[in-house]
Amino acid sequence: MADFDLVVRNGNIATATDLMTCDIGIRDGRIAALADRLGPGRREIDADGKLVLPGGVESHCHVEQMSAAGLMTADDFYSASVSAAFGGTTTIIPFAAQHKGQSLRQVVRDYHECAGPKAVIDYAFHLIVSDPTEQVLGQELPALIRDGYTSFKVYTTYDLLKVDDYQFLDILALARREGAMVMVHAENHEAIRWISDRLLQKGHREPKYHAVSHSRIGEGEATHRVIELATLLDVPLLIVHVSTEEAASQIKAAQTRGLKIYGETCPQYLFLTADDLDLPGSEGAKFCCSPPPRDAAAQEAMWLGLRNGTFQVFSSDHAPYRYDETGKLSKGPNPSFKEVANGVPGIEIRLPLLYSEGVRTGRLDIHEFVALTATNAARLYGLFPRKGTIAVGSDADIAIWDTEKEVTIGTEMLHDNVGYTPYEGRRATGWPVTVLSRGRVVVDDGDLLVERGSGEFLPCDTPELAKPLGRTSPELDPARNFGADLLR
Ligand code: URP
Ligand code: ZN
Ligand code: ZN
Repeated sequence: MADFDLVVRNGNIATATDLMTCDIGIRDGRIAALADRLGPGRREIDADGKLVLPGGVESHCHVEQMSAAGLMTADDFYSASVSAAFGGTTTIIPFAAQHKGQSLRQVVRDYHECAGPKAVIDYAFHLIVSDPTEQVLGQELPALIRDGYTSFKVYTTYDLLKVDDYQFLDILALARREGAMVMVHAENHEAIRWISDRLLQKGHREPKYHAVSHSRIGEGEATHRVIELATLLDVPLLIVHVSTEEAASQIKAAQTRGLKIYGETCPQYLFLTADDLDLPGSEGAKFCCSPPPRDAAAQEAMWLGLRNGTFQVFSSDHAPYRYDETGKLSKGPNPSFKEVANGVPGIEIRLPLLYSEGVRTGRLDIHEFVALTATNAARLYGLFPRKGTIAVGSDADIAIWDTEKEVTIGTEMLHDNVGYTPYEGRRATGWPVTVLSRGRVVVDDGDLLVERGSGEFLPCDTPELAKPLGRTSPELDPARNFGADLLR
């Protein structure tokens, strides 16, 4: 008679805080016991000598998302979730993206219709709010937050997505009232527009000019501005996909002031530079994302930010477009840098590359790695402790790593639908070989073992980390400064 549905035997388990070598007993999709020599399971996995980690939580990815310009991402919920699982991720939080004029409620329904029949691992949704009308702010968003969509992204740039400072304050005030986490894409739109116009007037069309037009100063300025606006209303804020020292130092300075400002960076800012955009013909389009990759000094600043607590989250910002007429070349074979769809793929390599280049080199310890790739995202977005850790009662979302496995990254071995990888030929040591989602073996030794549609939707709680600071800093207390009525 088995005590458990599944027992993972004798792995070296690491969480954001603990290290232990023991068995994991799994019952009904959850971790039921952690101990030495547990009783038998109906199925057993020998993890002796293997590293056993919480499955990754990928909290920034664009899946089956229509861009504002009408371009569909190359990955749907099947290919994106399969690719994520092969890279050791067991939860994805993509965006349900509102475009101007759309009802957010309807947008969420549409994304559910796409995800439900396809996702192979569990998923939640952030919202993208691009049209904060009275209806959206007064009715749709508060109701959606209560229904488990407790985080949303806003943009300071992109013609069709950006909100102005007034709208941003409206959104912050609502997040404060209803208990949601605001994420922001911070770049100075007018600076990008001004530089881009002049580059194009001079005939500079090639992809490499994308990096020139998205200046470091513009990213730093917008980061400073959104932090100050969030501080004005005492609302926690998460700055996504940070690429520069200029932005990172703004976040660090705010944290040093005791503010609840969080940061995220991504593989493209550790492993790519603006030189990658400078390839013959249009090839550099493969590396165009916003903000763009910078230089070696910026890469070092990102590594430092991962180590010193500036960044809580390491996400892929998987924004998959093929290098063909359906994606990067939708405006023809020689697009100007303004006509190239923004985004790079990375959902599958996120964890292995950070493990290989971060943990194996000693830049990060294993606990920092787990925190950055799983636990912190679960906490910031209201999924902890169900996701993001290995603990009794948590979902049995587990990645079993062979830390000596050597892999040469290439398009052929990845499971996304993008047809290229910016990391072609890069070597990684350490890869997840068996991946469990709610106790189901999703991936084992290169095989996918679950059906499409077997992932579940995860409604998110109000994140503790999204709560205002309160009156700990009287001079920053908006209730004192404007009167509490203003914020209700
Ligand atoms: O270039 C990027 N990052 N594209 C995806 C959309 C976004 O801003 O995150
Ligand atoms: Zn963005
Ligand atoms: Zn993104």
